[in-house]
Amino acid sequence: MNKRELLFYDAYEDFYTMAESSRVFQAYCIDAFGEDFSQDGFSDRKQVDLILPYIPFARFGGHSYQDGENPFSPHKPTEYVADILDIGCGNGKMLGYLQRRTGASIHGFDYSEQAIKTARKLFSKNAEFQVGVIGNIDYPEEKFDVIISMDTMYFARDMALFVTQIKKWLKRDGVFFVGYQEGDVMPRTSNAENTVLASALVHNGMEYEVTDITRQTYELLAIKRKAAMKFQAAFEAEGQKKWFDMLMGQTECVTEPYEQFKERMARYIYVVRK
Ligand SMILES: C[S@@+](CC[C@H](N)C(=O)[O-])C[C@H]1O[C@@H](n2cnc3c(N)ncnc32)[C@H](O)[C@@H]1O
Repeated sequence: MNKRELLFYDAYEDFYTMAESSRVFQAYCIDAFGEDFSQDGFSDRKQVDLILPYIPFARFGGHSYQDGENPFSPHKPTEYVADILDIGCGNGKMLGYLQRRTGASIHGFDYSEQAIKTARKLFSKNAEFQVGVIGNIDYPEEKFDVIISMDTMYFARDMALFVTQIKKWLKRDGVFFVGYQEGDVMPRTSNAENTVLASALVHNGMEYEVTDITRQTYELLAIKRKAAMKFQAAFEAEGQKKWFDMLMGQTECVTEPYEQFKERMARYIYVVRK
């Protein structure tokens, strides 16, 4: 397969090269999202925290780690260690955060070689990262307690087939947690029950609950724009003006009123079970 023919492949290689070296981008992520996950997506720390209750250790162990605690400490109870998979994991920072909070074993794949190189460098304990393309990668049956996919499902060429695979990878009582946006890669449909993802879930007999977070996304985009502007001079001084311009382009939509924005864009969180 020629990966360069895949949507945005070269752009993501550039993006993750920049994300590894740019101190300004890292500071901007913390400012905008409360945590540096090298976001190209739209997930702030609050949104990622919504995943924690679905991770068995946090649920059954009754303990969710705070920053600074060491989940691998021999003094911590470790009745159960969950396996989490992140589809489109980028450089693994979101998984690293979930591991820090729950002690879970983390697994991720992404088509970006640069991103996976960084992920392997950053996280080596109970961690497994693969370079892989959606549709061309496989995992054992019923391997994962939680599978997450934040702003990545759109890259599946055949969504129904990809959901069939995810269903196979998920444990019987596992949870598939998806952040899903419409209006850029995917066309805007009338509501959360009509998206390409929802059809693929129904087709696979999977049950889901969905929350419309379009309003929060609009507000987050405004925060993101403000943070980017705050770091404009620093981006320029670091020779990263191109990325400042990208952030401005990505957030231009908040210069229009919310009523207009929501006609074109939507964002949902799906919590899916087998
Ligand atoms: C919008 S970003 C989201 C990244 C991260 N999940 C987040 O929320 O910040 C999409 C991610 O999917 C990866 N990606 C895009 N197309 C892919 C494909 N066909 N196969 C595997 N990964 C892909 C990109 O490299 C990128 O890391």
